[in-house]
Amino acid sequence: MEQKKIYLGTNTKMYKNITQTVEYLERLGTLTADVSRQTVELFVIPSFTTLQAANPVAQRYGITLGAQNMCWEDEGQFTGEISPLMLQEVGVRIVELGHSERRHVLGETDGMIRRKVACARRHGFTTLLCIGETQEEKARGASEQVLRTQLEIGLAELETPQNLWIAYEPVWAIGVNGRPASATYAAQMHAAIRRILREKFGASAEEIPLLYGGSVCRENACELICQPDIDGLFIGRSAWNAEAFQQIIEDVLRQTGRK
Ligand code: PGA
Repeated sequence: MEQKKIYLGTNTKMYKNITQTVEYLERLGTLTADVSRQTVELFVIPSFTTLQAANPVAQRYGITLGAQNMCWEDEGQFTGEISPLMLQEVGVRIVELGHSERRHVLGETDGMIRRKVACARRHGFTTLLCIGETQEEKARGASEQVLRTQLEIGLAELETPQNLWIAYEPVWAIGVNGRPASATYAAQMHAAIRRILREKFGASAEEIPLLYGGSVCRENACELICQPDIDGLFIGRSAWNAEAFQQIIEDVLRQTGRK
């Protein structure tokens, strides 16, 4: 049987300027030149200002380029926002929507994310919708309910799941103060997400890549990727050095019998 594709990528957040991003892509592309892009969907989501310079480099190495956010309108009086048309102009293929920092630091609501998801679909982007519960929600046993609400509202305007990826990123697991979810807990949440997606999209929900994110590192990547319903890893800090990211990619490929 043909093995499923694995999704491995990083969001560089508000780090790396143009020069650093281009150097990073060059290095990552070179280091992973022997990794089939049919086997691994390798993606990088850098800052807006780097995208134009990053695009030709990413293309050269078969790395898919994403943006960290996007407005739900094509143009208009939206100071500080980025239009889908502007992202298309610089070669962006993936839009990351609803990252925990957008939701919890910058105040994005499920309603805003719903409009952005619909807009991404209209313009033919791949949507990487991020969802996840806070520590407080987890503590009161509300994790699955939170994921359900985020999915139901976020995906309300979609009738089919094409070009949709979901990242499960528990808020308490993200960043320098985060601690990674255990593989067992992550698997449990991924199974719940798959169930909710099946209720909405039927059998085609099986095709939606589900990525885990939140303090993924070399020590936990292999165990996480081996869980049922974890189709990929969305990595922050541990992937921002190209050599370190390449080591995780190699480990994961070996662990899953792809190398
Ligand atoms: P982290 O970030 O791996 O540094 O925890 C993950 C993310 O924010 O997607």
